[in-house]
Order: sequence, then C-alpha cells, then structure tokens
Amino acid sequence: MPTTEALSAETADASRFDGNLTELEYLALASSFNLADGHARQELTPGQSKVVGELPGLWAEAVMRPVDEIEEEAHRAFFHLLGQKSYPGADGRVLACYSSSVAMEIFARALVAETDTIALVHPTFDNIPDILRGVGLRLVALEEDVLHGGDLPAELLAEVGAIFVTTPNNPTGKVLSRERLARLAAQCAETGVVLALDTCFRGFDVAGQYDHYEVLEASGCRWVVIEDTGKLWPTLELKIGWLVRSANVGLPLAKVYSDILLGVSPLIMLMIKGLAEDAADGGLADLHEFIATNRALVRANLDGIPGLTFVDPDSRVSVERIHLGERLAMDVWEKLRAHNVYLLPCAKFHWANPSEGDHMLRIALSRSPVSLDVATRALRDVLLGE
Ligand SMILES: Cc1ncc(COP(=O)(O)O)c(C=O)c1O
Repeated sequence: MPTTEALSAETADASRFDGNLTELEYLALASSFNLADGHARQELTPGQSKVVGELPGLWAEAVMRPVDEIEEEAHRAFFHLLGQKSYPGADGRVLACYSSSVAMEIFARALVAETDTIALVHPTFDNIPDILRGVGLRLVALEEDVLHGGDLPAELLAEVGAIFVTTPNNPTGKVLSRERLARLAAQCAETGVVLALDTCFRGFDVAGQYDHYEVLEASGCRWVVIEDTGKLWPTLELKIGWLVRSANVGLPLAKVYSDILLGVSPLIMLMIKGLAEDAADGGLADLHEFIATNRALVRANLDGIPGLTFVDPDSRVSVERIHLGERLAMDVWEKLRAHNVYLLPCAKFHWANPSEGDHMLRIALSRSPVSLDVATRALRDVLLGE
C-alpha cells in the first residue's frame, strides 16, 4: 500500500499538507471509519453476491469464449443500464481500460499531440487536473456557474483546444442538463474544440442518464467520453474505465491505448455484465435508495451544529459536502484522525484556487450505515467539543 510521504509521521503538521487527495485517501485505507475515498465499500447486496459467487463459472466462460464478444456484451449491458443507447458500441470506438484514470491518461497523451490548452470544470477531483498537467497541458478554469449558466464566452473557446467537464461532478454532484450539453456540443462543433466528458458518477443520478451519445452524435462535434464502472459497486477495485470517441475525433487515442495496454480481463468484463444485469433488474434503484438513506443519516447526525451547512442540497452522487463555517477543514480532519475517522478536506478539489475549499469536508456515502453512523457521530462530537 502506498504511503503518504507528505504526511506520514503522526506528528506531522496537517495544516501544511501539500499532497493530493489520493494521498489523503491512502491514510484512510486501513481504518474501519474510512469515509475518505469515493470508491464503493458497502456490503454486497444479495444480487451482487450471487454474481460474485458465480466467478469460477465466469472464469471458465472467459477462457472459452472470444474476447470481442464478451467485451461487446459487457459494454452493452453497462451503457444501456445507464440510458446510453446511442453509444457507438459496434465499430471499435469503445476502448476498455483498467480504470477511468488510465482512460484519462490516454486521452491526455493523445490530446497534447494537438493542443497545449484545455478548459476544465472547477472544482473537480484533483487527479483530473494532475493528469492533464502531467502531459504538459495548460489548464483554464471553467467555473460551474459559467458552465451551467449559458453559452460559453467566445474568448474562452478561442483560447483552448478542448473542454473537459465532469458530469455529475465530484464533489458537487452538479449534472450537465441535456439542453446545456446540446449547446456546449454545438459551440464545440462551430469552433473545432474537442468536448470531453467524465461521467464516472452518472450511475447515481438519473438526471445524468439521458442519452448523451444521441446529443453528441447529432451535434457533429469532436467528442470523447470517459465512462466508469468503478464507483457504483463494491468490487474491490475490479473495474473498467471506458474511453469512447466520435468518429471524427482526430486524436491518436487508439495508438496511445496500444502504447499502454492490450485489454482488460474478460473475467472482469463478465463480472461487470452480471452486475449491470442485476442493476437493471432493480439493483440500481436499490442503490439510489441506499445512498439517499445514507445521506439522510449523515444530515440527521450533523443537524443543528452551529455554523455547519450542507453545500449541495440536491446532490444524488455518493459523496456529501459540508461547510464548517469558521472552522478549518484540516484542523477538523486532524482531530478526527485521532479517532481513526477519515473524511476528505476539499481544498484540492479547487485545483485553481485551493483556499475556496479550506472550510469544507467531503463525506463518502458508499459505506455501511453502521460505519457512517459511528463516524458522523464522532464528527458531531469533535465539532461540538470545541
Ligand atoms: C470524477 C472522477 N473521475 C475519475 C476518477 C478516477 O477513478 P479511478 O481511481 O478508478 O481511476 C475519480 C476518482 O475518484 C473521479 O472522482
């Protein structure tokens, strides 16, 4: 397990932490009260357990059958589950990657062959700006209010070669509406700017499940979408990030893909297919109810604490942000750490202006209700004990 060099000693001064969000997530991995990372860590449902119980049979099936057949069945089950009926599944425009970060790295490496500047939604999960900067791209912040408010300014479109939007966004839960996507895609089509979407959290919110590919294909713009199975189900990091592209994208995505990997295990593909079928059979609705119940539990446990507010009242994604009023998130994080409870301070989500997140914490909701209950009661005690 990686360590966090920036904050490995018990006595380290948390207020001077300068690492990234994933480094803070490493610190939480061994704790039973890890509410830090956004990965799913709750118990398997009976339907999901059945799929896991079938793994030896799926292994035998994966050995026997052609991999392209398995791959097509897996992405069809997953994309159709989430309303993406118009995705281009039949003509090799869907690349399976080990994770969405790998898909992101491939996209970034292919994009930098064409442009040196990209607009990125602000705030968002910091490994997205880190990967984009890692290949040498210059980032221009695209504030959520501007993105959702109406057409993008012509000067912004003239300045960049691509626009990257996380929808639903992590950590805010904001979803790009069908109307806004259509306008954004039309503006990108007019200007030749590549439109890239990270839809890793769309499984949690039906508002993000209209057919994006129908809108994108109709626009004629150059587009890339990163889909992800990794946030939905508690699959112990077994997941697929799918990199999908328009026929006219004009970026060397397949070439960079071939520089990095041959393909994802057909065993994982069959598992994803089974989980997607279970989800279509009622599991997804159950998951939405599970997250909503956990969100209500968090809000009830933290109700009435002076100065505390819930930042994203309409969010449906599997994380919940709280604003701590005058308190600094890193101070609260450090006090909670003494109780072995881990949340995520939000500064680094604000990749262009970290101080905007200094007073916010993010709580992961894909957890067992018991650990969520204990951890948020500890948070309440810490906040009231000041
Ligand atoms: C919006 C978003 N995209 C991509 C990722 C990367 O996912 P992974 O670590 O599975 O590659 C994350 C991680 O939390 C994320 O929040």
